[in-house]
Amino acid sequence: MKITVVGTGFVGVVSAAVYSSLGNQVIGLDIDPNKIKSLKQSKVPFFEPGLEKLLIEQQRAGRLQFTDNYKKAISEAELIIIAVGTPSKKTGAVDLSYIFSACKSLAPHIKPKVIIAIKSTVPPGSFTQIKKTIQELTAKKFYLVSLPEFLKEGTAVSDTLHPDRVVIGTDNAQVFKKLAALHQPFKAPVVKVGIESAQMIKYTANAYLATRITFINQIANLCEHNQANIEEVIEGIGYDQRIGHHYWYPGLGYGGSCFPKDVKELAAYAKNHNETDNLMIQLDRLNEARIPSLINHWGKIVGGWENKQVAILGLSFKSNTNDTRESPASRIVPQLLSSGAKIKAYDPKAVWKPANQQNYQQVDSIKTATAKADIILVLVEWPEIINFDYSTIKVSKKQFMIDARNQLEPDSISQAGFSYLGIGRN
Ligand code: UDX
Repeated sequence: MKITVVGTGFVGVVSAAVYSSLGNQVIGLDIDPNKIKSLKQSKVPFFEPGLEKLLIEQQRAGRLQFTDNYKKAISEAELIIIAVGTPSKKTGAVDLSYIFSACKSLAPHIKPKVIIAIKSTVPPGSFTQIKKTIQELTAKKFYLVSLPEFLKEGTAVSDTLHPDRVVIGTDNAQVFKKLAALHQPFKAPVVKVGIESAQMIKYTANAYLATRITFINQIANLCEHNQANIEEVIEGIGYDQRIGHHYWYPGLGYGGSCFPKDVKELAAYAKNHNETDNLMIQLDRLNEARIPSLINHWGKIVGGWENKQVAILGLSFKSNTNDTRESPASRIVPQLLSSGAKIKAYDPKAVWKPANQQNYQQVDSIKTATAKADIILVLVEWPEIINFDYSTIKVSKKQFMIDARNQLEPDSISQAGFSYLGIGRN
């Protein structure tokens, strides 16, 4: 199949490479010539395990090209996948301007009966407007469908190659048949639903996972008031088959490019439809409050942050990615700096700095970051950070180890001379 992927951000590049690996002719299209230049040389502008290798293989096989030329990319395409960004506006509602501008640019060049699949996350109700935008610029027939993505950063290539399910939102049986055949090599369940349901599935999956994270963090808060240990609680509830042991680690709340944005959009959507006590509104509020309240809580235990030397370990929003969007560090560092702390930060892949860099330094090893630190804050579960031998650090004064992901062994950290603080862990 001849496929064009519009937008070469995270989802776009992964999708283009994976569809190409299935034997399709794929073109990645973007308006940013610099991105296209580097992608043509198989350089991926972000860190994602396995992606660069796949890109090189597919480009060598002659199945994958990149261009910034709409006419060239669109005129032969049988399937156009739109994977441009849908960021949040100030109100929390989604900003669809990139979708509309992509549609305006592609519409004049489409060939008749092309399938246009929206992979970007857009709220139910947007399709009428998207369809109208394209129809205003072409008389040719096209089929608009929803093809939501469910990939996780850090495991995006294998998530796309081995999805739990493929959701196809269309009411056209022929279009469904074509798209089901395209995804058949994944050997995953293919779910045929209406276009609006497909979008709601995407939001619901993310909102549910975000709720789960918030829920366990709330229970961890309660454990702080007694001798219960959240890790033991998770162990105990997980055997209930309705609950399970997976995707339950407590921490700093959810970050990254999807959950915060999607929950905010659902909260805004709920408010717009007069669902003013919808759970999503409270969920967003709790997640926003999580980091400031933990920093205040820990601040009381460590004797205030002023003049404290703090080591921040982990700048990305989670391990195996260098993405710092909505990362814990991006919220914690400014709060600590304004409380008078001095920070040395380390991350295996991510590079990040606050707007005001006074008293902030990103260093190149855990050893340098933690030397002379009063407080070590483990923010991300990078293997290098959680497997580090902290007993090799000279503890000459009262030093705190804050394990914000409950990834360290409290006894061995205490034996190494630190005062250990975790999340809901006694
Ligand atoms: C998520 C969804 O998992 C994916 O299906 C969707 O398409 C995009 O959003 P991603 O943002 O890459 O993927 O990361 P994920 O691993 O799901 O983590 C999201 C956030 O939740 C991170 O901040 C992570 O640290 C946090 N998290 C996750 C927890 O705090 N506890 C958990 O148990 C799991």
